[in-house]
Amino acid sequence: RIAGPSGLVIFGVTGDLSRKKLMPAVYDLANRGLLPPGFSLVGFARRDWEDQDFAQVVHDAVREHSRTPFREEVWQQLSEGMRFVPGDFGDDDAFKQLKDAVEDLDSSRGTGGNFAFYLSVPPRFFPKVVQQLKKHGLANPPQGAWRRAVIEKPFGHDLASARELNTIVHDVFEPDQVFRIDHYLGKETVQNILALRFANQMYEPVWNRSYVDHVQITMAEDIGIGGRAGYYDGIGAARDVIQNHLLQLMALTAMEEPIAFDAEALLTEKLKVLTSVRLPKDLGRYTVRAQYADGWQGGEKVVGYLQEEGIDPRSKTDTYAAIKLGIDNRRWAGVPFYLRAGKRLGRRVTEIAVVFQRAPHSPFDHTATEELGQNAIVIRVQPDEGMTVRFGSKVPGTSMEIRDVSMDFAYGESFTESSPEAYERLILDVLLGDANLFPRHQEVEESWKILDPIEEYWTAHDRPAQYASGSWGPREADEMLAHDGRSWRRP
Ligand code: BG6
Repeated sequence: RIAGPSGLVIFGVTGDLSRKKLMPAVYDLANRGLLPPGFSLVGFARRDWEDQDFAQVVHDAVREHSRTPFREEVWQQLSEGMRFVPGDFGDDDAFKQLKDAVEDLDSSRGTGGNFAFYLSVPPRFFPKVVQQLKKHGLANPPQGAWRRAVIEKPFGHDLASARELNTIVHDVFEPDQVFRIDHYLGKETVQNILALRFANQMYEPVWNRSYVDHVQITMAEDIGIGGRAGYYDGIGAARDVIQNHLLQLMALTAMEEPIAFDAEALLTEKLKVLTSVRLPKDLGRYTVRAQYADGWQGGEKVVGYLQEEGIDPRSKTDTYAAIKLGIDNRRWAGVPFYLRAGKRLGRRVTEIAVVFQRAPHSPFDHTATEELGQNAIVIRVQPDEGMTVRFGSKVPGTSMEIRDVSMDFAYGESFTESSPEAYERLILDVLLGDANLFPRHQEVEESWKILDPIEEYWTAHDRPAQYASGSWGPREADEMLAHDGRSWRRP
């Protein structure tokens, strides 16, 4: 899978995402030999830069963040195809210059008219940028070539704004020209959920309400909001990562087998799950939002959310959110899916735990098996990518004592191949036109339908709960599970 003749235009090239993820990903792809020799990268931003200045910025980003070793000859070839267009999104001259740059690359580097436009810009600029692409004839491919738009989240902040955004984008681009990034889908382990479920015979028979007690999906981060106050305040954990990443993980975990491994079939099955989601009646009991208070993390004293620079001290934004969802279909009826995500938690870990019902009967001495937990299959998305199966085993000795043990599969031990970074994979897929790992607008809208009533409920009710930085979240979240006779896993 090597990309054909093509180029990438990045809007918002001076941003953090571009420097930390996109530029290094492009270099790593080139270094792995997955880009065509004439591949070209065009930066667009409001900076007084020449092509060389841009190339220097990319160079520094690559040296700092790329995954693969730096090789001068790879860099040389790549950097010769770098162009910079200075300008404002409203500036017609800049877009004319962009068009010239693209045409010039077609003739000098053989990009063949194939360009992807990556909108790594705040959402308020989306409409302007796509309209300018249309106005200047950049959205329509020349004969036999392609043009694609890559859109970073957030795709709106609720259903209404997401629909509005989709209308604007689809006015310019056909649905199959649009690639929405949910970088979780680019993660190796996330793709493995489907391999695990559908390339094997032993999991699917028990992957349903007859055997599964509940599912827990956790995305815990140890970092705070860093320098992202402007983006994060008013958005919060649920909109930032549950609406997209966690609901996608849930859809992959719960969906039926797609009839093929292609974008249409995957969409069909994921969409069925998302449209079957049922919210709990009692949102007060079964949703929790909270903010981190000060505390200790990694041996360091850290401030609470409301004391972070750039945050409104009266902010009600959630830095932690936990919700209980149901899926109304034959496979999952009555099985709760508990989703939680938070910043400044005990440690960084994302996992999906499928927790099984207890054995219906135990012939062993009750007192000796009391400690026995429930069987679980835990897919560790990150770090320590892999999978763990928890089950009870006899403790060596003369008595029949049973204790929980784990069986581990770790990527690092089973494979010598290294996984590409999520953005590498996704950028390559855009260039190849492979849409499997990109949520479609219907999924985005269904996900907002799930979240909107929760956000509305939160807005109408009290302040968020509090949790100490470095802890595993607020007491209220523990109570939420305790009420169902369950408890959160401590990853
Ligand atoms: C992003 C969120 O989508 O994902 C961030 O906006 C979050 O708030 C990040 O920190 C986490 O990504 P990863 O790949 O480090 O788990």
